[in-house]
Amino acid sequence: MTSNETKRIITLDGPAGSGKSTVATILAKRLGYLHADSGALYRSLTVACIDQIGAGQSVEDFGNRFSQSKVNPESFQFRVDYENGQQLHFLNEVELGQRIRSLEVTERIRFIADDLAFRNRVNQLLRDLSKKTSIIVDGRDIGTVVFPETEYKFYLDADVHTRAVRRFSELQESGISDTTLESIEKQISLRDEQDRNRKIGALRIPEKAILIDTSNIDRDMVVSGILAHLQQQF
Ligand code: C5P
Repeated sequence: MTSNETKRIITLDGPAGSGKSTVATILAKRLGYLHADSGALYRSLTVACIDQIGAGQSVEDFGNRFSQSKVNPESFQFRVDYENGQQLHFLNEVELGQRIRSLEVTERIRFIADDLAFRNRVNQLLRDLSKKTSIIVDGRDIGTVVFPETEYKFYLDADVHTRAVRRFSELQESGISDTTLESIEKQISLRDEQDRNRKIGALRIPEKAILIDTSNIDRDMVVSGILAHLQQQF
């Protein structure tokens, strides 16, 4: 754990599939920081809701159940832990594993992400973590809402097709094959729209963030670009 004086917060925002998570994992290793994946927290809380109220017969049915049942995010026995740099999510002391990446969860997450009480729970988890250690956090509203005061903000972007191809291969690598490239591309466009138009915590480029378009550069170039910026700032 780092001392009080040197604790830092690096934020990495951007749309789905822009490479944030992979880049954040590498940067965290290089810098000796923790990588906090805020999307995975929303995903885990979506699993918790599905377990509590059921997935519904359709996405809209789930949305209706969610708004009618007024699920309280504080009611879950949910905790996050880090093992060898990996973020683990425990619901009733059971680690959720890859279930958080399933299509069922991805399609239903927007109801949870639109809900202020759920956003507050995620933001509190991240802020508590930032008091203990230096962190690099990836998400949508991290530089704008969660840690607007940090000096180290980055925003990654890429065109929709490139992002869909990336997300598809990530899913395949983690053994999830319940979808096609075409449906991922549609899903990403839909999520872009939902993420950009959310009333609270919408996806925006934070003020003073360094903007990086990753469409035509590889992961290592993104990492070295960010490290070069940080070296100037530290
Ligand atoms: O990053 P990932 O694709 O895992 O995020 C899943 C979803 O969680 C996003 O589409 C968005 O709805 C929500 N999210 C959010 N705010 C964040 C991170 C993720 O609303 N900071």
